[in-house]
Amino acid sequence: MAEKLRIYGGTHLHGVVTVNGGKNAALAIIPAVLLAGEPCTIENLPNVNDINALEDILQSLGAIVSRTENSMTIDPRRINSTVVSEAFASRLRASYYFVGAMLGVYGKADVALPGGCAIGARPIDQHIKGFEALGATVSTDDGHIVADANGGLVGSEIYLDMPSVGATINIMLAAASAKGNTTIVNVAKEPHIVDLANFLNAMGGWVKGAGTDTIRIRGGRPMHGCTYAIIPDQIETGTLMIAAAATRGDVLIRGALPTHMEALTAKLLEMGAKVDEGIGEDSIRVRAEGVLRHVNIKTQPYPGFPTDLQQPMSALLSTAKGTSVINETLFENRHRHLDELRKMGGISSVEDNRRIATIEGVPALHGASVTATDLRAGAALVIAGLMADGITDIYDIKYIDRGYEHLEQKLCALGAIIERMSADE
Ligand code: EPZ
Repeated sequence: MAEKLRIYGGTHLHGVVTVNGGKNAALAIIPAVLLAGEPCTIENLPNVNDINALEDILQSLGAIVSRTENSMTIDPRRINSTVVSEAFASRLRASYYFVGAMLGVYGKADVALPGGCAIGARPIDQHIKGFEALGATVSTDDGHIVADANGGLVGSEIYLDMPSVGATINIMLAAASAKGNTTIVNVAKEPHIVDLANFLNAMGGWVKGAGTDTIRIRGGRPMHGCTYAIIPDQIETGTLMIAAAATRGDVLIRGALPTHMEALTAKLLEMGAKVDEGIGEDSIRVRAEGVLRHVNIKTQPYPGFPTDLQQPMSALLSTAKGTSVINETLFENRHRHLDELRKMGGISSVEDNRRIATIEGVPALHGASVTATDLRAGAALVIAGLMADGITDIYDIKYIDRGYEHLEQKLCALGAIIERMSADE
């Protein structure tokens, strides 16, 4: 049954909230369990639909999976298939990480092309280039990525044309099983790349340099099972920080790593919000009052401003004083939520082949019926609904449920008034 969120806007968020483990870290680490060849337990998992989709893929391959709300134990020993059908793969982007993992461990993979948020073209040429450099043959005919290791992968030197998160992860997964040494240059530096490297090392792998531009891997080492806890979710943390500022609230976010948040923190400070890092604990406190100033944002790979937070930021900027410009450099179709914000009274225009959005601050947003077009668009609309006068109904919240665990419950615990109800009501 389709559901919607009904937000009664105008409340200020106050109190303490704890972030979940990182969705995008978990999406890389769960397929990596195949490399262990033994059971692994992954803790601090967010309980979101993208994780359910990965669980279904693992079970379809023959893995034994047991789950609590925030942990998963995966036994890969009974895996008897290297095929992921379209019905499973199209549910999320990260299904393609099974290509890297299975290619290395089983020597072949046949995974239907991935789904994921429709935010632009999202090519996979860098993934394929990496697999081929390791000695695989790869084709993408008939909507499937079909890869064959030709008797075994061999370590190589790989230069990425851009620091792609997905390609970095997929090549790390394959290279960890390849014979010999691999060097990957111009890699992504996102916190979840470091988390994956730490997980591979916890299983007995040898991965150095994660978090810098170059990752070095000594492949083919014997791996073993382990228990591993995922890092906090950087994007959920940022979403809550923006929501606190947007509602002119005062929120302490626990379990958050301030060093992962520097680009957002800098922008919130520039706008006139107050951001304090916890002393002696992993926490961030965000406070704001009165009118906030406009800022310009350019999305960039980590440690630049994350593309995943520009949409939530655009809701906050809708009522900032002055004109803000958001330059989305990574994805070509990530301003569609601005059409929905316009229904709430936001003023914006998008130019330069859909990349550059100009937002004119207005005194207030007003409640309206709006539709989420992707995960972070949904988060932006929730923030806009919290800021708006009156009632906002958000449809297609399946996108929000893909990546945020109990978002409305967390916000309600901070004083928001949000109901989840049938979309037909
Ligand atoms: C990951 O997507 C995240 N998804 C995205 O989060 C996030 O927005 C993105 O990284 C950037 O941080 C997951 O981790 C599952 P990329 P990914 O490869 O890996 C181009 C969310 O909301 N490119 O780093 O697909 C690509 O077109 C989601 O949680 C190629 O040209 O992103 C883009 O312009 C949405 N060829 C740029 O690189 C390739 O082979 C960065 O994409 C690969 C990428």
